[in-house]
Amino acid sequence: MSTLELQKIEKSFDQTTVIHGVNLTVADGEFVVFVGPSGCGKSTLLRMIAGLDFPTSGDIRIDGETVNHIGAADRGCAMVFQSYALYPHMTVYDNMAFGLENARVPKAEISKKVNEAASLLRLDQLLARRPTQLSGGQRQRVAIGRAIVRNPKLFLFDEPLSNLDAELRVSMRAELRELHQRLGSTMIYVTHDQVEAMTMADKIVVLRDGRIEQVGTPEALYDHPDNAFVAGFIGSPRMNFIPAAMAQLDAAWGSQLPRGTHNVGVRPEHWVTSDDHTGVRLIALRTEYLGAQRLLHAQLPDGTLVDLLIDGQMPIAVGATLTVNPLADRWHAFGADGQRIARA
Ligand SMILES: Nc1ncnc2c1ncn2[C@@H]1O[C@H](COP(=O)(O)OP(=O)(O)O)[C@@H](O)[C@H]1O
Ligand SMILES: [Mg+2]
Repeated sequence: MSTLELQKIEKSFDQTTVIHGVNLTVADGEFVVFVGPSGCGKSTLLRMIAGLDFPTSGDIRIDGETVNHIGAADRGCAMVFQSYALYPHMTVYDNMAFGLENARVPKAEISKKVNEAASLLRLDQLLARRPTQLSGGQRQRVAIGRAIVRNPKLFLFDEPLSNLDAELRVSMRAELRELHQRLGSTMIYVTHDQVEAMTMADKIVVLRDGRIEQVGTPEALYDHPDNAFVAGFIGSPRMNFIPAAMAQLDAAWGSQLPRGTHNVGVRPEHWVTSDDHTGVRLIALRTEYLGAQRLLHAQLPDGTLVDLLIDGQMPIAVGATLTVNPLADRWHAFGADGQRIARA
């Protein structure tokens, strides 16, 4: 059982504040993903949770106990890095056993734990090898195994899959989720990749410039983004943002805009072609055939560029015009400050 609370966490390096008052609660057994652009403070937050760095102010609580001044060695968190950080001259077994040997755990217990972890991670046949004799995915599994044998209160992952090729990343995502199911441990996973966040998280924390923009399930962030940043960051291809003045050109759409609407957000997958010629007219600029779907890059009458995902079977010539409507309940209104305005 392990919970985590961050209360008003601030972090400055010299005169520069990089984390600005972060509050967060992580429940026991949750898989939480911190996601945001490079430099937004993900690693800094994770390092403070691990005890590798310390907040300038604020409280970190693990299982209700304030751990601000407890160092990494005594905090009971295990961190897995992008770089694996394996000892090249040691075997897989010794890499996994090293931390336990340092902690003077009895040999029989070490052997039991390493073998259990190896079997969980399908490394049983590789225990005598050295890291150079392993694939990237196998090395990352050894790094995870080294975390598992310590039976940590919290697992902390800092972009652990970034060095792997695309196909392996996808299968490792599933493996990590499965591992989480089997261990039932509390895990915090950092990535800049929103697809990774969406596919893996119970709960996503979207960060920007050292602040939390929104916390929620993947579904909540996709369906109800609090602001234009989250709306644009979550979901691929990216949400289109259309000036309110453009939406007002369409009588039906324009009449539904809430007061104060600055931009309208419509995801590429949330357009429907109109059969009665009422709606928004656009010109097809370019298409990308994806099989089941076609990604259409188009231009609205005011010059705004938009992307639409349409049926792959629907042929569209470059330069053709077509009329579309945003799906009734799926578009969002954003104010000049970027905050979403609730629609009546
Ligand atoms: N040790 C440090 N000294 C000074 N600035 C740092 C240090 N570590 C991180 N930063 C700064 O803090 C910000 C957040 O960095 P980081 O947490 O590494 O971002 P992320 O992991 O989201 O890419 C960046 O602006 C970075 O330059
Ligand atoms: Mg980082």
